[in-house]
Amino acid sequence: MSAPLPLRLGVNIDHVATIRNARGGDHPDPVRAAEIVASVGGDGITAHLREDRRHIRDDDLKRIMAATTLPLNLEMAATEEMLEIALRHKPHAACIVPEKREERTTEGGLDAAGQHNHLAPIVGRLNDAGIRVSLFIEPDARQIEAAMRLAAPVVELHTGRYAHLGLDGDAAGVETELKRIADAAALAAKNGIEAHAGHGLTYENVQPIAAIPQLRELNIGHYLIGEAIFIGLEESVRRMRTLMDEVR
Ligand code: PXP
Repeated sequence: MSAPLPLRLGVNIDHVATIRNARGGDHPDPVRAAEIVASVGGDGITAHLREDRRHIRDDDLKRIMAATTLPLNLEMAATEEMLEIALRHKPHAACIVPEKREERTTEGGLDAAGQHNHLAPIVGRLNDAGIRVSLFIEPDARQIEAAMRLAAPVVELHTGRYAHLGLDGDAAGVETELKRIADAAALAAKNGIEAHAGHGLTYENVQPIAAIPQLRELNIGHYLIGEAIFIGLEESVRRMRTLMDEVR
């Protein structure tokens, strides 16, 4: 069998902005985090501009894009406001996520199958603008088929359930979920859709996911920023990169 293709690491820097916003000033600056990620071999920056601007703010996008040559993956809800912002900033990629105002983080994947008519014009306009669209979905054949109908070039498979089952110590559940993710990645790749994954990934749980050969990118945020408090962002990203590389 041929070696798996390289696996990119996209670092989500939202929670640098969460800490900044806790005091309302400029420190710590997510732009500095983006520069550090670039300097230690991260492959991309991910940032979620939420409707309530609880972490990343509009001007951060422009500043991040100006400060680093790493591709920016903008996570966004499927709304007119976010579409307009994406078309104005033209990030490398836009990952469409479901967004509920009251949630603490993105819970559950996008219902690409149930929301086809709402999503189709948004995906179409992003595609036309040359922005690489990704749909954040559950690892489920029905959702991948929906992504194909929407002509999305990328899907990001939600690993939140996998991560939670691990925290609950449910080894059988973890295995089942891992297989669902691996099957979904294989189905996507077979149909010409690039497969990414993310949510809740840590040093402890990343390797079985990173070993799935069809996955091309992982997006990881909260854990890396949390670890950075103790060991620094450079080391936190480096360790994740090493763990990922060990299983490719
Ligand atoms: N991918 C997507 C689409 C997300 O919404 C998030 C969380 O913002 C992540 C990856 C990163 O998740 P975590 O912060 O748990 O690593």
